[in-house]
Amino acid sequence: MNKKRILILSYSFSSQTRNLLGGLIDGLRQSEMEIHWEQLSPLEELRFPIGTIWSTIIMMLQTFLRKRYPVRTINPVCFEPYDLVILAGPTWSYNPSGPILSLIDRDGKLVFAGKEVMPFISCRGYWRVHYFGLKQLLKQCGAKVVAPIVFSHPTPEPWRTIGVFLKLAGKAPETGSSWFRRFYPKYGHSRQQVENSRKVGKKLGECLESGMPFDKPLFSTPVKSEE
Ligand SMILES: Cc1cc2nc3c(=O)[nH]c(=O)nc-3n(C[C@H](O)[C@H](O)[C@H](O)COP(=O)(O)O)c2cc1C
Repeated sequence: MNKKRILILSYSFSSQTRNLLGGLIDGLRQSEMEIHWEQLSPLEELRFPIGTIWSTIIMMLQTFLRKRYPVRTINPVCFEPYDLVILAGPTWSYNPSGPILSLIDRDGKLVFAGKEVMPFISCRGYWRVHYFGLKQLLKQCGAKVVAPIVFSHPTPEPWRTIGVFLKLAGKAPETGSSWFRRFYPKYGHSRQQVENSRKVGKKLGECLESGMPFDKPLFSTPVKSEE
């Protein structure tokens, strides 16, 4: 029997998507399949953290307007046929991130047309507008978009919103002895979520191997800790 083929295209600014995908791929590897993981690299290096409050506000405004961040050419194997394509990245100001938008503009029709595409989203908490916008763009490329895998930061509000902003601005709010640290012990996803991502990958691999359709969501959205 031919091995199933899966393509993972991803961008990660502050390593959160990358860490979750590490778990996911570990889980996928428990099934017999061929996996190609292509990590997008912007032409102009994007530095994390952004560094100042002012430059963080500017980036948020630009990304709200869907600013594109051009990416380097991708490996030609990405244009081959796949049983499933996972398009993974963070939410930026209610939108897909600039490198992902740029990839879709340039290569979208060649990479996604006629393929099943599963969005994979890492966000602080608001993923819906991102998902629906991404779905539209992918459909315009001729993709069949299936239910997404979403992970949101586990820290409660309002701390995660303030914490993410301060982290991006280079303030490292989770370190030192400030009172804020009590409410915001860590930026991003937890170890438990990386473990959950591994379980999601295992289940996804099993479904892919058995030929099960992805029409219905396989996991809760966002992924809950018991999965
Ligand atoms: C410019 C910018 C804008 C962001 N806007 C949002 C947002 O609108 N909603 C949200 O839930 N998270 C937002 N985030 C937070 C990221 O989605 C989140 O930290 C994610 O886990 C980062 O993943 P990454 O490290 O793979 O880039 C934003 C981050 C950046 C850098």
